[in-house]
Amino acid sequence: MTPQQIRDLFPITKRRAYLFSGGISPVSIRHDEAINRHMRQLRENPGDFYMNKLNEDAEECRTIFADLMGCDQNEVALVENTSMGCNIAFDIIELPIAGNVVFDQYSYPSSILPWYLPTRTHIEKRFVDPQEDGILYLEDFKKSIDSNTVAVCISHVTQEQGFRHDLASIVELAHENGAVIIVDGAQSAGAMNIDLHKIKVDFFSTTAMKWLLGAAGVGFLYVANRHHSKLPSHAGYRSASLRSNHEFDWKIDARKFEIGMPNLLGLAMSRVGLKILAEADMNTIENHNLDLSGYCIEKIKALGLNVITSEMDNLRMGIVAVRYERSHDLWQFLFNIGIDTWCHSDIFRVDPHIFNNRDDIDRLLDGIRQFLRST
Ligand SMILES: Cc1ncc(COP(=O)(O)O)c(C=O)c1O
Repeated sequence: MTPQQIRDLFPITKRRAYLFSGGISPVSIRHDEAINRHMRQLRENPGDFYMNKLNEDAEECRTIFADLMGCDQNEVALVENTSMGCNIAFDIIELPIAGNVVFDQYSYPSSILPWYLPTRTHIEKRFVDPQEDGILYLEDFKKSIDSNTVAVCISHVTQEQGFRHDLASIVELAHENGAVIIVDGAQSAGAMNIDLHKIKVDFFSTTAMKWLLGAAGVGFLYVANRHHSKLPSHAGYRSASLRSNHEFDWKIDARKFEIGMPNLLGLAMSRVGLKILAEADMNTIENHNLDLSGYCIEKIKALGLNVITSEMDNLRMGIVAVRYERSHDLWQFLFNIGIDTWCHSDIFRVDPHIFNNRDDIDRLLDGIRQFLRST
């Protein structure tokens, strides 16, 4: 499918310039059909659904996610969200008596807060700072990661700056020092081409509800094959193959990190979004998103605003962030004229995805111009 064919599937593109994929995905007409089908099954014949189709959407989501992300199906656990996936990964890391964990100043709170829980208070926390240009350099990670580093916890693409890490290099550095690396992919999975096997990351957690065009309450945790011998900190009937209630074998792959019934409605929706991405091809999506974010940066800068996302292709992906004191006023103004963006504190953000085009960006630029003239 071409970007235009995908655009045609999303009704919102006919009314609004929806530039908020880093927050929540809009739904397409295919999502509507899938939800209606799911509801019809539950209304007309839930018994048949339970006995014959219960795991269909889950397994299809697992398969497509694995294909999109360059990993094996048995390395994917279905979880509730990115934060839960990160916590599951942290729980299976064996902690030494003394050691350190490395974050950067842009790491998302879900990667940091679990390290302040009682069982981990003795682990030293190290934060890598960006340089004045806002870039997190590998050289600075080298100063923090050492042979006592237990884990490196970073966001692949950061949500407030739109900064993209060179993941492969940081993974290599972590592994050279004997540390594992846990990556929050909430702002990268679905926005760009990712090959988890090639990058050699240990754990990668993400949500379906943003760039993967799926639902809230559905997330994916990639657990590299080499970690499958570890046991989860929580267990349920889905974590094992049961011979009786107390005779069982733990599942031998990432499925052992699943506990009970997943979000069936969310999976029915997420399957559709993943399939759309698969039909488009992740290379096409990455190029499209880089083109739109690059165009956005160039034009917003030309309006005199302080764009903090790098214009370098290798340092950004879908998110474009601007530091602007009146970000909320700007957001509200744009929202009122049919343009969806995001703001928080002094950050104003624009997140173009595969269903957007340059007309959406031009509409945004026109909106910003109107706002600046009116103030
Ligand atoms: C980088 C990043 N990580 C994690 C999250 C939260 O994800 P979840 O609600 O799936 O735990 C967000 C939400 O915006 C995010 O931007």
